[in-house]
Amino acid sequence: MKTANGIPLLGYGTYPLTGAECRDGVAMALDLGLRHIDTAQLYDNEKDVGQAIAKSGVKRGDIYLVTKVARDNLGRRHFSHSLEDSLAKLDVDYVDLLLIHWPPEDEDFDSAIDSLCAAQSSGLARAIGVSNFTIPLMRRAAKRASLPLINNQVEFHPLLDQSRVREEAEKLGIVLSAYSPLGRGAVLKDPAVVEVSKRLGRPPSEIALRWIVQQGVVALPMTTKTENAKSNMRIFDFELSPADMAKLTQASKQNRRLISPTGWAPKWD
Ligand SMILES: NC(=O)c1ccc[n+]([C@@H]2O[C@H](COP(=O)([O-])OP(=O)(O)OC[C@H]3O[C@@H](n4cnc5c(N)ncnc54)[C@H](OP(=O)(O)O)[C@@H]3O)[C@@H](O)[C@H]2O)c1
Repeated sequence: MKTANGIPLLGYGTYPLTGAECRDGVAMALDLGLRHIDTAQLYDNEKDVGQAIAKSGVKRGDIYLVTKVARDNLGRRHFSHSLEDSLAKLDVDYVDLLLIHWPPEDEDFDSAIDSLCAAQSSGLARAIGVSNFTIPLMRRAAKRASLPLINNQVEFHPLLDQSRVREEAEKLGIVLSAYSPLGRGAVLKDPAVVEVSKRLGRPPSEIALRWIVQQGVVALPMTTKTENAKSNMRIFDFELSPADMAKLTQASKQNRRLISPTGWAPKWD
């Protein structure tokens, strides 16, 4: 699988799956050959993800595992304990990528970035990054960090214009990951996506995911269905023309942001 900053370009999103549904989903993804799994402390499913990985028989070294530190755990006293707790639940010695899930409170900002770097130095995380960081927050974090931040996981799909965030991330050496890459289904009905889909004879989901990875952005769709997971993996066997890429980029100017939790969300770019 192609990678960006070492991150496989297609991952398996695990929110909002918990319990048996999560274990089944992760088992299905691994069975189909997906090797990049995205979880978070907030999802309350790290234990299920860990159990599914252990049961799969896939070697730890072949899996790219990502988790995220919850906002409540970003303070100096909680960060490393919460990471140890995540590793215990996941039943692993390290994660491949550790992210700060939502931007810290201003007074916790520097210490959270320091704790993130310490997690990498101690070997508990192989690489580090952030999630839901705006351009000013990415710049501030990159300036503070003593180690490279390789990733910013943000909402990214053909209904939302994230081009400025992507350009600034690139300048900072940060690769974006696309969460809610299908806009939780909304993308599948967009007229531009549907038109390209009909013309190329590919489902709307593949058109949207292909538009994402063709920009060098990692895509993290969640699905509970084997047929959909298989389809999502077919995005590497075709290409969108420059005209079709531009058409979807134009659609993204409608700027329909879906995820913006009150109290956590920053002032978006
Ligand atoms: N960092 C953050 O703050 C943050 C926030 C939100 C999400 N995330 C991550 O991003 C992942 C994905 O985001 P999301 O779950 O919000 O939204 P999403 O992946 O855009 O949408 C999920 C929906 O798409 C459907 N779907 C998936 N593949 C499909 C296909 N090929 N054809 C038709 N429908 C398809 C799924 O239904 P079926 O199950 O029926 O296939 C599900 O209802 C999450 O699981 C999580 O890991 C991160």
